Amino acid sequence: MTDPASPVEKPLFGNPWIFIRGVPSMQFLPPEGPFEVAFAGRSNVGKSSLINALVGQKGLARTSNTPGRTQELNYFVPDGYSGEGADLPPMALVDMPGYGYAQAPKAQVDTWTKLVFDYLRGRATLKRVYVLIDSRHGLKTNDDEVLSLLDKAAVSYQIVLTKTDKIKAGAVPHLVADTLEKIRKRPAAFPDVIATSSEKNAGLDDLRNAILTTIGR
Ligand code: GTP
Ligand code: MG
Repeated sequence: MTDPASPVEKPLFGNPWIFIRGVPSMQFLPPEGPFEVAFAGRSNVGKSSLINALVGQKGLARTSNTPGRTQELNYFVPDGYSGEGADLPPMALVDMPGYGYAQAPKAQVDTWTKLVFDYLRGRATLKRVYVLIDSRHGLKTNDDEVLSLLDKAAVSYQIVLTKTDKIKAGAVPHLVADTLEKIRKRPAAFPDVIATSSEKNAGLDDLRNAILTTIGR
């Protein structure tokens, strides 16, 4: 029999998640505590959609056809850890503004880019960054800049291919191999690439397992 007084480890995925905070600039970050796992990538690559697919809640993170939808660092945690006297959540998922969106006003793009870069290089509790790459486009120059920043800051990251439903199924293994080859010499890159489709729910268990391993669950 289990001791009712002992803490029960709730499964993270499969239970509801909630939005707790939108961070427009570094001074509004929550105090460092739970491990954070962040989703970075070019505008419109599918960061918010992937978070929704991971937790199985379509409307949790706001998504849009138009690039530049997510404008703050949005924090999501498993439900049941808010309120006075509550335990700290075991982890947070952080949805980030995209980079590389040239159509928005320059001042706004500069603000988002600074926030993304400052957060990525300066957050002690940031355990892993998933850098999302659109399967149709592959690694672009601005992705390489972000990977170099993460290498320099020694922040562990893993590449996740998105929207694999938009390319031929036979092309996916080639793209994975090609992407792996491109990051082979990058010191902070996890030497595996996860191929996903939020639309078709592909690769999600691989990503969930990767996250759980990262945070030591
Ligand atoms: P920003 O917040 O603007 O940086 O974008 P984002 O990276 O959060 O992208 P978002 O999740 O808002 O998705 C952008 C568009 O891509 C939306 O129209 C989504 O429906 C679409 N999309 C996301 N994931 C997939 C996918 O796996 N397959 C397909 N076909 N479309 C997808
Ligand atoms: Mg978004």
